[in-house]
Amino acid sequence: MNTPYKNLEEHNKILHQQNELKQIQKSNPTLFDIAVIRKDFPILNQTVNGNRLIYFDNAATSQKPIQVIEAIRNYYLNDNANVHRGIHTLSNRATVAFEKARERVASFINAKSSDEIIFTRGTTESINLVANSWGLKNLKPGDKILLTEMEHHSNIVPWQIVAERTGAEIVYVPITGDDGYLDLEAFERLLTPQVKIFSIVHISNSLGTINPVKELCHKAKTLGIVTLVDAAQSAGHCPIDVSEIDCDFLTFSGHKICGPTGIGVLYGKYKILETMPPYQSGGEMILNVDYYKTAFKKPPHRFEAGTPDISGPIGLHTAMDYLDSIGRDLIFEHDKILAQYAYDRLKEISGIRIFGPPMNRGGLVSFALKDIHAHDVVTVADQFGVALRGGHHCTQPLMKKLGVESTARASFYFYNTTEEADRFINVIKEIQKFFTS
Ligand code: ALA
Repeated sequence: MNTPYKNLEEHNKILHQQNELKQIQKSNPTLFDIAVIRKDFPILNQTVNGNRLIYFDNAATSQKPIQVIEAIRNYYLNDNANVHRGIHTLSNRATVAFEKARERVASFINAKSSDEIIFTRGTTESINLVANSWGLKNLKPGDKILLTEMEHHSNIVPWQIVAERTGAEIVYVPITGDDGYLDLEAFERLLTPQVKIFSIVHISNSLGTINPVKELCHKAKTLGIVTLVDAAQSAGHCPIDVSEIDCDFLTFSGHKICGPTGIGVLYGKYKILETMPPYQSGGEMILNVDYYKTAFKKPPHRFEAGTPDISGPIGLHTAMDYLDSIGRDLIFEHDKILAQYAYDRLKEISGIRIFGPPMNRGGLVSFALKDIHAHDVVTVADQFGVALRGGHHCTQPLMKKLGVESTARASFYFYNTTEEADRFINVIKEIQKFFTS
C-alpha cells in the first residue's frame, strides 16, 4: 500500500489501524446497537419535506441525547444559581456541579489536573485565548507560527491578527493534494528554531484527514516548540489523551460532542497557563482589586472572567458520560467504517471529485459534482430529507488551494447507519441526473 508518510513508524501505524478496521468490519458489522441509541435522539425520528430525516451534518453540530437535555433542564428547574460567589445552598450546588464538570473534562482527555481545564465558549474562543494571551506575550519579529494548509479559519485568523501585532510570520505545512495528507517532509523542513508555536487540526473538517498529532507534536517538542491541537472534530469521535499527545494546548467545543452550544474547552499544561496573562478581565478572575491595580487568580479561574455558562458544563458533563457509555474507541471505528463506505460508494458516481484520504479517514466525506454548485446539491438533498453542508466550511484558503469555491459534505456520527448512507448515495445520483439531463 502507498501512503505519503515516509516515516516508517507512521506507515506501520496506518497499516495496523487498517487491519484492525478490517477485523472489526468482519467480526462486528454493528459495533453497538444503533436502534437503541437512536431512541435517545427523538429529533432524528422525524420527516423533512416528506422524507425520513437523514442528519449528515454532524461536523457542524451533533444532535443531543435526551440525557443531556434533561441534565440542563434539571439544573434550571432545581439548582440554578451563580457559581463561586454565593454561600447559599443553591449556589453551592451549582458550584459543585460546575467544578465536577471541569474534573470530568480532565478525565475525558486524561489531563493531569482539572486546573488545566478552562471553560470557553468553544474552540474558536479557546484558540483566541491562546493567541492573544500566550501569543501576544511570547511572539516577536523573526518568530514563526507554524500552521497547516487544512486549518479552519478559527486556527488561522487569530494567528494572523497576533502576527500583525507582534511581527511574527505565519508559515504553512502544505497538503499533498486532493488526498488531503500533510506533506510530512515539508513539515520536517519547516520545523526550525524560529518556530515558536505549532498549531494543528486533529481531524480536518473539510477533508476528513486524521493527522498524526502525537508524532508531530513530539517532533515539535524536540525543538522546544509550543504545540496546540484543534480537536473540534475529534474530541467526541475518538479517545483523546493529552498526556500521550504531550501537546501544550488542546481545544474543543461541547456542541460537536453531544453537548450544548456555547460551551468549549481549552486544555493547557499548567506550567504554561501560569505564565500567561488574562485574556478577558472583570469579575470572577480576580484575587483583589484596588482602584489602580489588580491581582489575578491562578489558572483556570484567571481565564474565566464574568459569570460563566453554568448549564453548559453541566450538559457537557452528561454528554461526555454518554459518549463513554458507548465507547469512543467504538465510535471512532463506526465513523471510519461509515465514512469509508460512503467514500467508496460515492466513487461510483462519474464526474465526482472527492477530497481527503482514500482510506483511514474521519467520519466525513467532502465532494464536488462536476458543474453542479455545492449549494444546489445541499438544497436539493434537503428536499429528500438529507441534511448536508455545502460551502467553504470555514476553510477558504484550503478551498482555494484545491481550486474549488465550495464542496458538499456529509458528516457522520454514531447514530448514523449504512442504510442512511445508501439513501444519501441514491439522492446524490438523483441530483446528478436532475442537473445534467
Ligand atoms: N466548523 C464547523 C463545520 O465544519 C461549523 O461545519
